[in-house]
Amino acid sequence: MQWTPAINPKRFHLEQLLAVRGVSLDWLNSGDTDPYCAANVARFSFVAADKVIPFHYRGAIADSPEILAWLQELADQAREVQAERGAPVAAVNHGRSLLLLGPTGTGKTHQAYGAIRDLALAGVAARWVVTTAADLYAALRPRHGIDSEAEFRRYRDASVLLLDDLGAERKPTEFTEEINFRLINWRYENHLPTLITSNLVPKEIGARLGDRVTSRLIEMCERVVFSGPDRRRGEAA
Ligand SMILES: Nc1ncnc2c1ncn2[C@@H]1O[C@H](COP(=O)(O)OP(=O)(O)O)[C@@H](O)[C@H]1O
Ligand SMILES: [Mg+2]
Repeated sequence: MQWTPAINPKRFHLEQLLAVRGVSLDWLNSGDTDPYCAANVARFSFVAADKVIPFHYRGAIADSPEILAWLQELADQAREVQAERGAPVAAVNHGRSLLLLGPTGTGKTHQAYGAIRDLALAGVAARWVVTTAADLYAALRPRHGIDSEAEFRRYRDASVLLLDDLGAERKPTEFTEEINFRLINWRYENHLPTLITSNLVPKEIGARLGDRVTSRLIEMCERVVFSGPDRRRGEAA
C-alpha cells in the first residue's frame, strides 16, 4: 500500500459523501506515518477510484440500502480475514455479488459508481476493474497483436468487478455467450465479488443469458430491482 498524501476533497468530489456518511476530512487526511492505516487506504482508494469512475458519475453516492449492506459485508469480511491472518491491510478478495436490475435511467450505474466510492471510504483495499459488457466484448474480440486471454484474465481475476449493462446487446452471439459464461463461472467458482447491472427484468434473464449463467447468478448474487421513470428524460424535460 503506497503512502498517499492528504487529498483535496474538492478534487475527488468528497464533500457531500463525507457529510452524508458523517466522516470528517480530518480523519481522512490523518495518520502521517503508517501507510497501512485505514485513512491512508481510503486516500489511496479514492485516487484509484478516480481513475476508473467516468466523469459523469464522479460525485455519485449510493443510497440503496441493499448496496450499502453488501458493501458493509465485504468490508467486514475483509477485516475478519485481515485479523485472522495478521495481514497489514484489510483487502476485499472474496464475497457475495450484487445484481442491480431495472429499466434504463433508473440509476443503476450511479449506484454502482457510488458503491466504489463508499468502499474506498470504508478504508479497505479493493482493486476494482470496471467495464460495460459491450466494452468487454470489444476488448476481447480476437485481433492481431492482442492477447485476448491475458486481457480476459484481467477482468476474470479482478478483486472486485463492475460489469455494467449485462444483457443489453440486441443479439447475443456465440462469442458474447461464451464470454459471459466463462467470466461468470470463474467468478462464481472463486467467490469473487462482482457488481452487475442489467436492464433486463428478472423474468427475461433466463431467456437472454441462458440457464447456465442465470443459475450461477441466482446463487452468487443478492438482487436489487430499481424502478421509476428514466431520470435522463426527466432532466431533459
Ligand atoms: N441518486 C441520484 N442522484 C442524482 N442523480 C442521479 C441519481 N441516480 C441517477 N442519477 C442520474 O440519472 C441519470 C440516469 O442514471 P444512471 O445511473 O445512468 O441510470 P441507469 O444506469 O439505470 O441507466 C444519470 O444522469 C445519473 O447521473
Ligand atoms: Mg447504466
